[in-house]
Amino acid sequence: MEAAHNGPAATAPVILELSVGSPDQMRDLGRRIAAVLAPGDLVMLTGELGAGKTTLTRGLGEGLGVRGAVTSPTFVIARVHPPLGSGPALVHVDAYRLGGGLDEMEDLDLDVSLPESVVVVEWGDGKVEELAEDRLHVVIDRAVGDTDDERRTVRLVGIGARWAGLRTDLPEG
Ligand SMILES: Nc1ncnc2c1ncn2[C@@H]1O[C@H](COP(=O)(O)OP(=O)(O)OP(=O)(O)O)[C@@H](O)[C@H]1O
Ligand SMILES: [Mg+2]
Repeated sequence: MEAAHNGPAATAPVILELSVGSPDQMRDLGRRIAAVLAPGDLVMLTGELGAGKTTLTRGLGEGLGVRGAVTSPTFVIARVHPPLGSGPALVHVDAYRLGGGLDEMEDLDLDVSLPESVVVVEWGDGKVEELAEDRLHVVIDRAVGDTDDERRTVRLVGIGARWAGLRTDLPEG
């Protein structure tokens, strides 16, 4: 039987679900994700206050080998972490107070080229999707009714052809 033809943009999302038991494991997951990141990638982090978005980003920064500790970008919307080696810079965005979305982001006049960087955005849903055609969503949830305070369920949702190999490319934890 012939496969249904859905047109070029209709790649099904790749979804990986992981259980993360501690802040250290969340950082490790960030390092593992960093291993598959390339210049121009957009990573969007979703999860309630204190879910662990910045903790994961810290691991991304370590894995990418960038300068400066990743912290919550309070008072700044975006922080650029330049590469220590030959890899891409990490642009860490907190879009919480970014009312107008992309226009404001462009107005920030970041001293870096987004297509040559890895851009990681907290609170960016509905605001920054247009930055890249393909994107990796990291959705962090506290398991409902879980008595373990540190347990998080993390879903990696890869949108677009860029992420088709995520399942096999992501290093083992
Ligand atoms: N499994 C876990 N993964 C990540 N953080 C955890 C975990 N368990 C407990 N924590 C704690 O939860 C907090 C997560 O804070 P973090 O700043 O990473 O959250 P956030 O999602 O970025 O919040 P915000 O929306 O305020 O930016 C930290 O204090 C961390 O120690
Ligand atoms: Mg944060």
